Amino acid sequence: MKGIILAGGTGSRLYPLTLVTSKQLLPVFDKPMVYYPLSVLMLAGLREVLVVSTPVDLPRYRELLGDGTELGMKLSYVVQPSPDGVAQGFLLAEEFLAGGGACLVLGDTVFHGHGLTGLLRECVLDVEQQRGGVVFGYPVQDPHRYGVLEIDRRGRLLSIEEKPSTPKSNRAMVGLYFFDSDVVRVARGLKPSGRGELEVTDVARDYMQRGKLRLENLGRGYAWLDTGTPEALLQASNFVQTIEQRQGLKVACIEEIAFHSGWIGRDQLQARRQRYGGTAYSRYLGELADGGGWH
Ligand code: DAU
Repeated sequence: MKGIILAGGTGSRLYPLTLVTSKQLLPVFDKPMVYYPLSVLMLAGLREVLVVSTPVDLPRYRELLGDGTELGMKLSYVVQPSPDGVAQGFLLAEEFLAGGGACLVLGDTVFHGHGLTGLLRECVLDVEQQRGGVVFGYPVQDPHRYGVLEIDRRGRLLSIEEKPSTPKSNRAMVGLYFFDSDVVRVARGLKPSGRGELEVTDVARDYMQRGKLRLENLGRGYAWLDTGTPEALLQASNFVQTIEQRQGLKVACIEEIAFHSGWIGRDQLQARRQRYGGTAYSRYLGELADGGGWH
């Protein structure tokens, strides 16, 4: 399985913040937003990742993340000429996926929670062994802004609707999706929705109707943070700062994940510090290389 980060779109809800900057490059406290979804894929154990963005913004992602060697990964890039929907990501990734499964994460997904790594790795194994797909439900106060999942009393999925005006539940579908190698074929069969997009909810519904979709519910122990408004962006930054300051451990430090995964060694960690100058982030990497961190 390989990873895809969707980092395109117009970010128009954040204007003027995103008039000349890609939304997923905006800061969430001490690092660019895209570090968070990248760290999710890394925690899932995926070392090959495709970054999808607009023609204007893609070069900035390449500049920021490189070819992945410094993280012990392989990063590739592809342009999405116009924001024609999340599910288009699978079509743009067809060559990259080379007939395998995909974990697609939206570039503005900020997650934090105990046991996330285990959960993600289980999903990869599940889809690789049993095939099908996995989506995640998360309770929100404003479900009409999201894909909404309806379940019966036994927890079985009944329906999936994109931004319904009358949501059937408060269970939003999170911007993280695991699908087997059928996903490109399914995406190819989609028609644009009323808002003119190829909808990921339609992909998930296709899997559901074939009895191939598993729902994982992320409960109170997880934070899935919104970054869609200036207020939400500030709250996400404050959340990350609060946790990092309390624990002295970083959330979504991509170098730390690469190091703990054994993809890079101490020397590479030290070398990476040069990029970050004399910042607290750089010192953190230095401490990790010296044996600090979670022990
Ligand atoms: O946030 C989760 C929600 O994301 C799901 O609950 C919905 O089912 C799913 O459709 C999606 O909702 P939106 O359509 O409102 O997402 P948005 O337009 O904000 O785009 C999500 C991210 O994907 C954002 O970082 C921009 C990027 N994107 C979006 C589109 C439509 C692209 O890179 N290309 C695109 O064509």
